[in-house]
Amino acid sequence: MKYLATTSFGMEGVLKNECVLQGFTIEQVEMGMVVFSGSLMDMLHANLTLRTAERIFWVLGEAKPKTFDQLYDFVTAYPFEDIMSAKAEIIVNAKSYRSTLYSLRDIQRITKKAIVDRYFRKKGLRYLDETGAQYSYLLRIEKDQAYLLLDTTGEPLHKRGYRQQHNQAPLRENFAAGLLLLSRYFGKGDFCDPLCGSGTIAIEAAMIAMDKAPGLERGFQCEEWKLLDEKESRMLRHSLRERIKPAEFKVMAYDNDPRAITMARRNAKMANVKLELKVQDLRDLQGLSGGGTLVTNMPYGERMGTAQEILVLEELMAHQVQSLDTWRLGILSGSPDLSKKLGRRANKVRKFYNGQLETWFYQYDPTKRW
Ligand SMILES: C[S@@+](CC[C@H](N)C(=O)[O-])C[C@H]1O[C@@H](n2cnc3c(N)ncnc32)[C@H](O)[C@@H]1O
Repeated sequence: MKYLATTSFGMEGVLKNECVLQGFTIEQVEMGMVVFSGSLMDMLHANLTLRTAERIFWVLGEAKPKTFDQLYDFVTAYPFEDIMSAKAEIIVNAKSYRSTLYSLRDIQRITKKAIVDRYFRKKGLRYLDETGAQYSYLLRIEKDQAYLLLDTTGEPLHKRGYRQQHNQAPLRENFAAGLLLLSRYFGKGDFCDPLCGSGTIAIEAAMIAMDKAPGLERGFQCEEWKLLDEKESRMLRHSLRERIKPAEFKVMAYDNDPRAITMARRNAKMANVKLELKVQDLRDLQGLSGGGTLVTNMPYGERMGTAQEILVLEELMAHQVQSLDTWRLGILSGSPDLSKKLGRRANKVRKFYNGQLETWFYQYDPTKRW
């Protein structure tokens, strides 16, 4: 089976490494996605374990259609009757980039017609009941290369289920995990987020430290289809639970806003992870001796404070960054020249988009030559 996992632009390398670690075979890495192959059960395995993925699609077919007739023939050739349960609810979406076929409405309409025609013909149906499990297809064309995809995930993977409450600018859970993996945090050594907000980065760090699969507390669309062997699925979840171990090192999460700490505490409880939480201002951060990893997200954008407040915080961060020279640091900020303001040249700066906002991730690593 072939799968396509989507992720944030810039996280493809980390997602690829995660796939390799889970034993999947990499087929292709493109902007915002990784294509890999594995067994049928790997669709559940990938949803349960990949920390940086947003969705896992099952690749049902690939073709290069230049006309709508060719698109119809390509789609209708797939044996939908083998994978769709009776009363399936069929949803079809379309995406097209730089391709001959570009009208999304028509691509969507023809694809749905092809699926339904084939399904009706083989099942002897005349109308759709659609009261059963959902099958959400995506016909994606880029430079005339079309993929017929089926979403195995359902609710996107960043929704782990633990974040009941968040502040104004929370990071998506899978993006937070990506920042940690880019910082080479694999659960060894102490961890600190001194501006933790609702606790997303620290909770993801604790899950990495405990070797807890990120999807264990939720279900996925593919589990509704009755395609996967139920006993094998239960065994997979069980074996992932067996791997969970107590974190050997501290995961510290601080914020100067007591409401943020209350939120982070609730979220950590939901996620079943242990954090060392404290209301503390960045200026009082101390005791981070030896080595460790600090990953944090500075406030940015209009919602998160005035320019003056951000300036004060950058000064406080500059002080910390200069003294924490034995720690691996990763600081996400809306400022394109934070390194200068912090008075220490970053080893690596990566650019990301958080929605429409440009952000930069400043990395300091005393143990690595970049
Ligand atoms: C961008 S938010 C962090 C969001 C967080 N990553 C999340 O996903 O929820 C920045 C946080 O920094 C905190 N903060 C601002 N100034 C601070 C200071 N001087 N000391 C400690 N925390 C501060 C704010 O209360 C806010 O919760």
